[in-house]
Amino acid sequence: MSLEADSPAEAAMHSYYAARAREYEQIYLKPERQSDLRHLEQEIPWELAGRQVLEIACGTGYWTQFLAQQVAGVLATDLTTETLKVARTKALDPAVVRFAQVDAFALPPSLGLFDGAFAGFWWSHLAFDRVDAFLASLTACLKPGAKVLLLDNRYVPGSSTPISRQDAQGNTFQMRTLQDGSRHEVLKNFPDEHRLMQQLGQVARTVEFRQYDFYWLGVWEYSGAVTTS
Ligand SMILES: C[S@@+](CC[C@H](N)C(=O)[O-])C[C@H]1O[C@@H](n2cnc3c(N)ncnc32)[C@H](O)[C@@H]1O
Repeated sequence: MSLEADSPAEAAMHSYYAARAREYEQIYLKPERQSDLRHLEQEIPWELAGRQVLEIACGTGYWTQFLAQQVAGVLATDLTTETLKVARTKALDPAVVRFAQVDAFALPPSLGLFDGAFAGFWWSHLAFDRVDAFLASLTACLKPGAKVLLLDNRYVPGSSTPISRQDAQGNTFQMRTLQDGSRHEVLKNFPDEHRLMQQLGQVARTVEFRQYDFYWLGVWEYSGAVTTS
């Protein structure tokens, strides 16, 4: 899908994940992360059990496959043709899982209203000045009281790709190399609990920040407040 990205960083991220799609899930094989992953693969679907879930930036459907075991339905969305193509090969139950190619910053009202949402490793790719635009897009698709889960990386020296630079707004970047040798600069932020609370502001009625060795999980409830971007 063609992309009218708001910034060079968003365009770069989109083309990076298109190029990475077929090798993407190797990230889930890192030996030191296995214990956290087994735990989260149970915890995340359990938290959203029985709900109609909107998944943002589903990528290759790694988390979709676990969500599908417990939720009433999941609409798994991503902007990138290549990642969605891999996700569709997982042959998940079509009575539970649907896929749609949409931009997380412009979720159309036609998607409907959900009482759950999940985004894995998406929040860290939001530039600080794009968080409100994303939240406005997301919350327009949520019922008040919806439960939202954000899963993302903690920065762990020796396991995480080192940060290569920081811009004037404080966004951090990594240089990543794919198997074909191509090099990509990717915006990747590592917010702590305080920062996440600030970012969620009025849209979250309650926020829980759970920490694991390699990941954090933000669990929040949509307050019903309308955001403007
Ligand atoms: C780090 S991957 C996360 C994939 C998946 N959630 C997971 O945890 O395995 C980030 C995803 O964001 C998607 N993406 C990039 N820009 C997007 C946008 N504007 N709207 C929706 N998805 C986008 C990429 O295609 C990629 O699949």
